[in-house]
Amino acid sequence: MVNWITVADAVDIPTNSCHEVDIENISILIVNVNGLFYAIENLCTHDGGTLSDGNVEGDEIICPRHGARFCIKTGAVTAPPAYEDIKTFPLRVENGKILIDID
Ligand code: FES
Repeated sequence: MVNWITVADAVDIPTNSCHEVDIENISILIVNVNGLFYAIENLCTHDGGTLSDGNVEGDEIICPRHGARFCIKTGAVTAPPAYEDIKTFPLRVENGKILIDID
């Protein structure tokens, strides 16, 4: 079942930055990649590091602990030491509000 939840105002997340939200005990990053927004789980699959302090480079986020890279758009791992993808969540922008579906 789709369960859209409003999590942020789009204007508060500048280009190439991320914003952390906690929804139902899941830490989620909302990332602005060149004006388009994506939602990814804030949890590196290598060793459980949080990605919220990682740099955003293009459409990738870099884990600050050991440097694994993930595609923000798809969650796909793009560089070791992680080998498993991260979770992504459906997102839409409506009237300047960012909504995600965590079901
Ligand atoms: S915890 Fe992210 S690369 Fe190791």
